[in-house]
Amino acid sequence: MVSPIGASTHRLALRIGLVAIALLARSASGADYVGSEVCRNCHPDIWSQFYRNPHYKSAASGKEKPENTGCEGCHGPGQDHVESGGVREAIVGFADLPPDQVLNACLRCHVQSISRANIRRSEHTGQDVVCTNCHSVHSSQAPRFLLAKQPTELCYSCHSPVRAQFSMPFKHRVNEGAVQCTDCHNPHGGFAPAWRMAQRPRMLDRASGNEEPCLKCHIDKRGPFVFEHAGVRVDGCETCHNPHGSMNPKLLTRPVIFTVCLECHNGAGNFGRRTTGIATQDATHNTADPRYQNCTTCHVRIHGSNADANFLR
Ligand code: HEC
Ligand code: HEC
Ligand code: HEC
Ligand code: HEC
Ligand code: HEC
Ligand code: HEC
Ligand code: HEC
Ligand code: HEC
Ligand code: HEC
Ligand code: HEC
Repeated sequence: MVSPIGASTHRLALRIGLVAIALLARSASGADYVGSEVCRNCHPDIWSQFYRNPHYKSAASGKEKPENTGCEGCHGPGQDHVESGGVREAIVGFADLPPDQVLNACLRCHVQSISRANIRRSEHTGQDVVCTNCHSVHSSQAPRFLLAKQPTELCYSCHSPVRAQFSMPFKHRVNEGAVQCTDCHNPHGGFAPAWRMAQRPRMLDRASGNEEPCLKCHIDKRGPFVFEHAGVRVDGCETCHNPHGSMNPKLLTRPVIFTVCLECHNGAGNFGRRTTGIATQDATHNTADPRYQNCTTCHVRIHGSNADANFLR
C-alpha cells in the first residue's frame, strides 16, 4: 500500500495522525480504536471513495460506538496496525479470513434482516460462498448493494449452465434485463416452501404468505379460486413450467400440452381428494384426436376457476 502523496507530506500527515491517535486512544474507553480519519493517511485511495459507501453513515453521524464506526467497524481496532506503520497481521484483513469468520464479521451488524434469516443454512453458506464472494465493499461494480459485479453477471460467474437456459426460445427475459435472478431467488437463502411438500427449496424467494415467487408478478394465478387445480396449488408452478427457459411455448415442460396433463391424469393411484386417485378423462376424450391433444382449448382456466369444477370457464 504505497501512498501517492510525497514522502515528506506523508511523514507529516503520519505525525499528525499519530498525535491524533494518541489523544483518541487516551480519551476513548476502548483504547484500541483510533477512528477512521487516521486510516486516510496511508489508505487515501480507499478513503476517497468511502463517502459513497453506505457504511460511511456510521462515521458521518458520529453517534455510533467506536467498534461500529467507519473502517474499524469491519477491520477492528486499528491502533496496533497504525503504530506499527501498517503491519498486516495487526488488523483484520478479509483476504485470508476463513469463510465462517467473514460471515460472522458481516452478520454482527446484518443479522437482523428477514432477507438473511436463513443465511446460515443456505446452500451458498454450505458451500463456503459468503458475503465477500458477492459483495465488494471497496470496489463494487454495481450501482446498488455493493455487488462485486452487475447482478446477473454475478450469478452467471458461478452458474454458467443457467445462462444457456435463459437463451432458449421461450424464457424469462433475464439476459435482456426485464427480470432478475433475485426476483425469484434469495441468494441469502430461502424459507422452506409451502408447496411441493417443502422439497427442493432451491433458495427460492417468496411472495407474501410464503407462496411461490412467481405470484409476485403473475398475480392472476394466485387465487384463491372456488375450484382449485390441486396440481397447481400443491405441486407448484415448476411441475408444468421450466421457470428459466424452455424449447416449448409458455415455458412448458413438454412440447404437446396433453403430455403434460397425462403425467398426473393417467389412472395411476395416488393421493387425490377422493382417495381414488386423480380423475382421468372419460371416453369422450379421444387423445388420438389432435383437437383433444390441446387440452387447454377447452380447459381454459387451467390454473383454477371460480365458475367451473372442470376449469372449462
Ligand atoms: C502508517 C500508515 C498506515 C495507517 C495509518 C493505516 N494503515 Fe492499513 N496498511 C498500511 C500498510 C503499509 C499496509 C500494507 C501491509 C502489507 O501489505 O504488508 C496496510 C494494510 C492494511 C489492510 C490489509 C490487511 C491485509 O491483511 O491484507 C487493512 C485492512 C488496513 N490496512 C486497514 C487499515 C485501517 C482500517 C486503518 C485505520 C484504522 C489503517 N489501515 C491505517 C499502512 C497504514
Ligand atoms: C463493511 C465493512 C468494511 C468497511 C466499513 C471497511 N472495509 Fe476495508 N475491507 C473490507 C473487506 C471485506 C475487504 C476485502 C476486500 C473485499 O472483499 O472487498 C477490505 C479490504 C481492505 C483493504 C485491503 C485490500 C485493498 O483493497 O487494498 C484495506 C487497506 C482496507 N480495506 C481499508 C479500509 C479503510 C481505510 C476503511 C475506511 C475508510 C475500510 N477499509 C472500511 C471491509 C470493510
Ligand atoms: C450469492 C451471493 C450473495 C451472498 C453470498 C451474499 N449476498 Fe447480500 N446480496 C446479494 C444480492 C444479489 C443482493 C441484491 C438483492 C436484490 O437485488 O434484491 C444482495 C443484497 C444485500 C443487502 C441489501 C439488501 C438487503 O437484503 O438487505 C445487504 C445488506 C446484503 N446483501 C448483505 C449481505 C451479507 C452481510 C452477506 C453475508 C452474511 C451477504 N449479503 C451474502 C448477493 C449475495
Ligand atoms: C458495524 C456494523 C456493520 C458491519 C460490521 C457491516 N455492515 Fe454493512 N451496513 C451497515 C450499515 C449501518 C449499513 C447502512 C444501512 C442503511 O443504509 O441504512 C450497511 C449497508 C450494507 C449494504 C447495503 C448497501 C446498499 O446499497 O443498500 C451491504 C451490501 C452491506 N452493508 C454489506 C456488508 C458486508 C459484506 C459486510 C462484511 C464485510 C458488512 N456489510 C459489515 C453496518 C455494517
Ligand atoms: C462464488 C460463486 C457463486 C456465486 C457468485 C453465486 N452462486 Fe449460487 N451457488 C454456488 C454454489 C457453489 C452452490 C451450491 C452447489 C450447487 O448446487 O450448484 C450454489 C447454489 C445455488 C442455488 C441452489 C441450487 C440447488 O441445487 O439447490 C441457487 C438457486 C443459486 N445458487 C442461485 C444463485 C444466484 C441467484 C446468484 C446471484 C445472486 C448466485 N447463486 C451466485 C456458487 C455461487
Ligand atoms: C422466473 C423465476 C426465476 C428466475 C428469474 C431465475 N430462477 Fe433459478 N430457479 C427458479 C425455480 C422455480 C427453480 C427450481 C426449479 C425446480 O426445482 O424444478 C430454480 C432453480 C435454480 C437453480 C437450481 C437448479 C438448476 O437448474 O441448476 C439454480 C442454480 C438457479 N435457479 C439459478 C438461477 C440464476 C443464476 C438465475 C439468474 C440468471 C435464476 N436462477 C433466475 C426460478 C427462477
Ligand atoms: C419479476 C416478475 C416475474 C416473476 C417473479 C415471474 N415471472 Fe413469469 N413472466 C414475467 C414476464 C414479464 C413475462 C413475459 C415474458 C416476456 O415477454 O419476457 C413472463 C412470462 C411467463 C410465462 C410465459 C407466458 C407466455 O404467454 O408465453 C410463463 C409460463 C411464466 N412467466 C411462468 C412463471 C413462473 C412459473 C414463475 C415462477 C417460477 C414466474 N413466471 C415468475 C414476469 C415474471
Ligand atoms: C398443471 C400444470 C400447470 C401448472 C402447475 C401451472 N401451469 Fe401455467 N400453464 C399451464 C398450461 C398448460 C399453460 C398453457 C395454456 C395455453 O396455452 O392455453 C399455462 C400457461 C401459463 C401462462 C401463460 C398464459 C396465461 O394464462 O397467462 C402463465 C403466465 C402461467 N402459466 C403461469 C403459471 C404460474 C405462475 C403457475 C404457478 C402458480 C403455473 N402457471 C402453474 C399449466 C400449468
Ligand atoms: C401435477 C399433477 C397434475 C397435472 C400435471 C395436471 N393435473 Fe389436473 N388435477 C390434478 C389433481 C391432483 C386434481 C384433483 C383430483 C381430485 O381431486 O381427485 C386435478 C384435477 C383436474 C380437473 C378437475 C377434475 C376433477 O374431478 O376435479 C381437470 C379438468 C384437470 N385436472 C385437468 C388437467 C389438465 C387439462 C391438465 C394439463 C394441462 C392437468 N390437469 C394437469 C393434478 C394434475
Ligand atoms: C373439446 C373440449 C375438451 C378437450 C379438448 C379436453 N376436455 Fe377434458 N373435459 C371436457 C368437458 C366438457 C368435461 C366435463 C364433462 C366430462 O366429464 O366429459 C371434461 C372433463 C375432464 C376431466 C374430469 C373428468 C371427471 O370425470 O371428473 C378431466 C380430468 C379432463 N377433462 C382432462 C382433460 C385432458 C387431460 C385433456 C387433454 C388430453 C382434455 N381434458 C381435453 C372437455 C374437453
